Amino acid sequence: MPVEIRPLSPSLGAEILGADLSSDADFGAIRQAFADHGVIAIRNAGLSEDGHIAFAERWGQINVNRFFKPVETHPRIATVLKEPDHTDAVGEEWHTDHSYDTVPAMGSLLKAVDLPPVGGDTLFASMHAAYMALSPGFREMLDGLHAWHSSRHAFGADTEDTEKYRTGRLQRSDAATQDARHPVVITHPLSGRRGLYVNPVFTTHIDGWTQGESASLLEYLYDHCKKPEFTCRLRWEEGTLAVWDNRATWHKALNDYQGHRRLMHRITIEGVALN
Ligand code: SIN
Repeated sequence: MPVEIRPLSPSLGAEILGADLSSDADFGAIRQAFADHGVIAIRNAGLSEDGHIAFAERWGQINVNRFFKPVETHPRIATVLKEPDHTDAVGEEWHTDHSYDTVPAMGSLLKAVDLPPVGGDTLFASMHAAYMALSPGFREMLDGLHAWHSSRHAFGADTEDTEKYRTGRLQRSDAATQDARHPVVITHPLSGRRGLYVNPVFTTHIDGWTQGESASLLEYLYDHCKKPEFTCRLRWEEGTLAVWDNRATWHKALNDYQGHRRLMHRITIEGVALN
């Protein structure tokens, strides 16, 4: 039976049903859906930790996150955890993973382990759809720009008194030493489509611009990218595994389930330099 692919919104995202994650033929269809939709939610994936790692290795080399608490038995898997007595959620602001690295991660595979009874969805936004909705003149101006991204302000020593560090969900603030310069608009390495590559959590400023000039432009772009027509909403189910492309999308974990537990396992895959 061929896998069933159901789009989540006109801009991005698709659910995949009936996939056999050990089948090469199904992997071909999954990879095509990933290229077409930017983020896919594979339902009933039913993966163990070893199965999660084996499936991740089909996509490329694993890039171990420096800051997220690892799964004790499987240190290449990062935990994304919120306990009932926590108030902050990891990843609750719009961002794309690892943009502070010179060669940013291609994508992430996030597996639902323990879900709240309702809520805890993840929102995604298409950076290609957002870029294409800008005027040709504005796009031309953006095409010549580069921006700086950093891990320092997000995970460094100044953030040690946040709840996420105090509760041990984040660690190794001393490892937050990455700064990277990327084009503001990239050509996607797989699809060849143009898309915005700046994000509210890790981008610090436009190369060669003052903080004030940078902040005005970035704020305009962020408001634009958050428009509902460029987004989709993933409702997690037991057994769901999401795979998203960091070069094509932003994501945001909705923190709307106070008093409940949510545990996810994440594996991040190495990428390529962006142009
Ligand atoms: C993340 O930002 O990687 C986590 C997203 C989520 O928990 O939904």
